[in-house]
Amino acid sequence: MKTHVKIVLAVLVVAATAVTAQKRDRFKHDGKIRNEQELAAPEVFVANATEAETGFDNQTNGYLDQGPEFETLTDESVVALRSFNDNRFIFDEVETVQDGLGPVYNAQSCRECHQNVVTGGASQITEQRTGRQGENEFFESLGGTILHSRATHPDLVELVDPGDNVRTFRISTNVLGSGYVEAVSNETLLSIRDQQPRHMRGVALETPILEAGNAARIGRFGWKSQHASLESFAADAYLNEMGITSPLFPDENTSRGNYVGFGTEFDPVPDPEDDGIDVIVFADFMRSTKAPSRGEITADALAGETVFNSIGCNNCHVPTLVTSPPGTVINGGAFVVPEALGDKIIHPYSDFLLHDIGSGDGVPVQSTPEFAFTANLIRTAPLWGLRTRSRLMHDGQSFTHVEAIRRHKGQARRSARAYFQLSDEERQLMRAFLDSL
Ligand code: HEC
Ligand code: HEC
Repeated sequence: MKTHVKIVLAVLVVAATAVTAQKRDRFKHDGKIRNEQELAAPEVFVANATEAETGFDNQTNGYLDQGPEFETLTDESVVALRSFNDNRFIFDEVETVQDGLGPVYNAQSCRECHQNVVTGGASQITEQRTGRQGENEFFESLGGTILHSRATHPDLVELVDPGDNVRTFRISTNVLGSGYVEAVSNETLLSIRDQQPRHMRGVALETPILEAGNAARIGRFGWKSQHASLESFAADAYLNEMGITSPLFPDENTSRGNYVGFGTEFDPVPDPEDDGIDVIVFADFMRSTKAPSRGEITADALAGETVFNSIGCNNCHVPTLVTSPPGTVINGGAFVVPEALGDKIIHPYSDFLLHDIGSGDGVPVQSTPEFAFTANLIRTAPLWGLRTRSRLMHDGQSFTHVEAIRRHKGQARRSARAYFQLSDEERQLMRAFLDSL
């Protein structure tokens, strides 16, 4: 999640070049701006696509076998690392200094931040990001934009530099169903972008697939869509959240710029601390999770979705996407879409693109000048599983839907304004809809 300073990136921004003959800038009446029919009836995209598996139930979506009873698993019994339960055990596992934890870190296991209501869900845990905005340049804090809140030695905990004027929280996101999101093609994301009304059009950021020699792919994971593959994200998280190095991220983090890795008194484990297996295990676990399921879909919730569409929320919070067919080679050749994840219909209520809705946190995806424009862009928060989250927006600082909507300005200004012009009854219906997600 920290910027990959060591990697020479060939990252390009796919320019929003779509030229559409029709004028799409008016969004008040759904059918006119984007083809609502298509969103409501995904069959028109792919004839033989079927609904993805959903549920908060610790059951595999079919990509991996369920495996042995979870309760019986122990460190020693998890050797095959092939089943959903084996891999979930590793995702849940609390790491220690002997395993490579730290010296600076945020938490001891992936589950610590991704567990609501089951392993892989979102959580209230936030991390701190800081930096300094100079006149024309962004400077990362010493040691990177992630300020590690914990360390294995009291003197190593990173404290905020008073001069670092860019300060933000980032709350832990959901990873359930992320295998489906990974299986969505670049073309699908680009075509959503190209159909968006001009004043709402998102940015598709190409990011490097680290396990495929930095092949470019459109990012979709994280608040800044900073990664396109789950393996890349997992390696990044293992280092930057837990302090565990792996072949894709072999260099230990510093403590406020000071080297505290192997060879110093603080770190007994040579790098890479993980041989790369754990990282694949995390990715495979996430790929085998079901997508968040819906709550009860009442008549009010259905009517509320119509209101949601009528005021243009669905331009960014896109209800339905379809994954690539099984056998499609993705991630720069590093992954092939399996049967369980291919041709699946998902309802993430996101376009996975970046937008400026005026809530941005001032931290660019990379600190180099060509990324300066990303400083205030944020990925459309996927609304699936919304009913399990009580802290909203990237910083977790909004307490209610209405508070979150009030922070929608910039590209979402017209849509949010339309919300505040709704009748009480329409707002009630929208609430029923949002509460069902
Ligand atoms: C200290 C809390 C914490 C720990 C530990 C942690 N994460 Fe995360 N995770 C986050 C936060 C915060 C984000 C959003 C970060 C951002 O976008 O800047 C996130 C985002 C993600 C995402 C992107 C999901 C999406 O699309 O939004 C993936 C994938 C992920 N984490 C995987 C992992 C894995 C695998 C591990 C264990 C190696 C892990 N995380 C450990 C806090 C944590
Ligand atoms: C131009 C794109 C765009 C439009 C239009 C839009 N949103 Fe959003 N929405 C976003 C982005 C981007 C975020 C994340 C912002 C952040 O975290 O700072 C977001 C976040 C949210 C969240 C918080 C979700 C969470 O898990 O934290 C809710 C709720 C939400 N939007 C509802 C709506 C509703 C309701 C509408 C229509 C009135 C709407 N949005 C219109 C882009 C949009």
